[in-house]
Amino acid sequence: MEGTDLARIRPFLATLGRTPTPADVAEAMRAEHLLVSDAALMAAVEALRRESLGAGALDPLLHTPGVTDVLVNGPDQVWVDRGAGLEPAGITFESEAEVRRLATRLAAAVGRRLDDGVPYVDGRLADGTRLHAVLAPIAAPGTCVSLRVPSRHRLSLADWVANGALPERGAILLRMLVAARRAFLISGGTGTGKTTLLATLLGLVPPHERLLIVEDSRELQPDHPHCVRLEARHPNAEGAGGITLTDLVRQALRMRPDRLVLGEVRGAELRDLLIAMNTGHEGGCGTVHANSADDVPARLEALGALGGLDRAAVHAQAAAALDVVVHLQRDRAAHGQGRRRVATIATVQRRRDLVEVVPAVEFDAAGGARPGPGLADLERLLTR
Ligand SMILES: Nc1ncnc2c1ncn2[C@@H]1O[C@H](COP(=O)(O)OP(=O)(O)OP(=O)(O)O)[C@@H](O)[C@H]1O
Ligand SMILES: [Mg+2]
Repeated sequence: MEGTDLARIRPFLATLGRTPTPADVAEAMRAEHLLVSDAALMAAVEALRRESLGAGALDPLLHTPGVTDVLVNGPDQVWVDRGAGLEPAGITFESEAEVRRLATRLAAAVGRRLDDGVPYVDGRLADGTRLHAVLAPIAAPGTCVSLRVPSRHRLSLADWVANGALPERGAILLRMLVAARRAFLISGGTGTGKTTLLATLLGLVPPHERLLIVEDSRELQPDHPHCVRLEARHPNAEGAGGITLTDLVRQALRMRPDRLVLGEVRGAELRDLLIAMNTGHEGGCGTVHANSADDVPARLEALGALGGLDRAAVHAQAAAALDVVVHLQRDRAAHGQGRRRVATIATVQRRRDLVEVVPAVEFDAAGGARPGPGLADLERLLTR
């Protein structure tokens, strides 16, 4: 059914104050002098059902195999990433009001409020899809909705190799990294596959180890029999009741973790993670946003500052706590079709008072491997 036709019958249906039955929809269509054929009625009922349950017009996109992201920038721009970078999705919304309705409904579905008082939201939908939305006029050209589809099946390391995202040699090193219980961070830009790779690696942790996973919103689904998951909580509308990642890292440490996992390090909790790793908690790991492996120390400095650590303290703590950085990259769409891949495995070394991330192996887009100055250090770390 055309969006404009839906817009015509919606006011009638809204007056009912209940979920419309197909008979109600037919009556509304008749009232608007629309043709009520079986097909038209079915299309209208289906469109309304999608609107009230799922992600409305976005549902078919979200269920297309290979789609990882759906981005809405107001009514006229809908973008989709099917694994080859962003491309126009070929659909539009009838109005800004329709996008806004979708955004508020999705927010309600994740139990959050979204209105002019609190114009942005993030959370996870029941099927695991990650939601972020910001209302216009804070966002232009209109209300923005960003949806990240979780991978439908867990990727094994063999899948990464089969996808061309990781050369076999890299897979061997990552296996050794987990087996040696070294502390590592997975770095990369937005949507490069950090969380996915972390879940893959956690699946390699021996089953007798107890994983404590601390996350902002529940994303990691590792294939592992002993996971305890702690999820942060946003404060309520009055600003009370929030539970931060820092709170949760502290709780996790009292829960006898064999591995402490911080889904994404993005704030003051870095301090607690580093302290934990420096006080006998081995095998800690997490992801961090950084555009290159070299940028990781600067990123840690910025996050450490949020936790009240000065520059020298961050470097000293990070040098002692962290062993390895695995960096992910997404090639530009023109070369390699926006493919996500492991680009660098690096070791964290101390140079005078500063920590440096020194490449041990660099992989190119063709799957070739080039040794870097950190290789000897990596071999030492992995074979103990
Ligand atoms: N190796 C891969 N092969 C195929 N798809 C992948 C691969 N790695 C990640 N993806 C897909 O890419 C999308 C983004 O992955 P993921 O959420 O792990 O990225 P991220 O770097 O953690 O993103 P963010 O910066 O938003 O935290 C997901 O839909 C995921 O299923
Ligand atoms: Mg992530």
